Amino acid sequence: MSGDSVYIVFLGAPGAGKGTQAARVAEELNLAHIATGDLFRGAQSLDTELARQAKYYMEKGELVPDEITIQMVLERISAPDCEGGVIFDGFPRNLKQAEALDEALEGQGKTVDKVVYIKVSEEELLKRLSGRWICRNCQTPYHEVNSPPEVRGRCDRCGGELYQRADDTVETVKKRLQVYFSETASLIEYYALRGKLLEVEGEGSVDEVGSRIVESLKEEFARSG
Ligand code: AP5
Repeated sequence: MSGDSVYIVFLGAPGAGKGTQAARVAEELNLAHIATGDLFRGAQSLDTELARQAKYYMEKGELVPDEITIQMVLERISAPDCEGGVIFDGFPRNLKQAEALDEALEGQGKTVDKVVYIKVSEEELLKRLSGRWICRNCQTPYHEVNSPPEVRGRCDRCGGELYQRADDTVETVKKRLQVYFSETASLIEYYALRGKLLEVEGEGSVDEVGSRIVESLKEEFARSG
């Protein structure tokens, strides 16, 4: 651990459950939750260059350029709510982003403590993404079969309107998976070589996967003191 702060990366393919689990674990461990996809989607209502660029790449299922993404994350982690530690969800997504994060944390005498890699089969990923609905207000994800909201079309947590993401179409999902395998999957080895990788089976109910993640993290932190 980096002094009193904890920095955890959630890694996995699109639809693996990073957002679902990162929100729960951040709440349980009292950490800030930084989801780059949510930050880009949140920026869409603003008339800025970042919003335009993010929209352009997200609609194609490609990564938003590193300069934009890295700068956005580094600004976000300097906010006061991140002092106790952070769960990164969807960042880093390639080697350049991983190195930039390492460098930024090292500059403050901190480090990425653990990387939770949520492993899910491709067949399951496709089922999860095609049935996903998201709250427009608080970003909570639902699934029309696996975790439906109590009231159709409304978020259980805040009552916000649920919508389907524009990049959850069959074609864009295929592209996102391709980008994941060509650019992001190499981070599994990057973090394994540094002794940080914690592989967690991502199939099973949301509660089962969540308990596996929390237990593995607690064991790891107990081991490393
Ligand atoms: P982003 O928003 O990060 O999307 P992603 O990585 O493709 O991941 P998803 O949000 O699709 O899936 P998830 O793993 O969070 O799964 P979820 O919990 O929702 O990125 C979108 C785009 O933004 C990128 O394509 C890129 O353009 C850009 N971007 C983002 N970060 C970037 C970066 N660092 N650099 C450059 N560009 C970047 O779960 C999925 C569904 O499954 C939900 O319906 C959920 O209810 C359900 N579910 C979850 N767990 C379970 C379970 N155990 N059992 C059954 N159903 C489950």
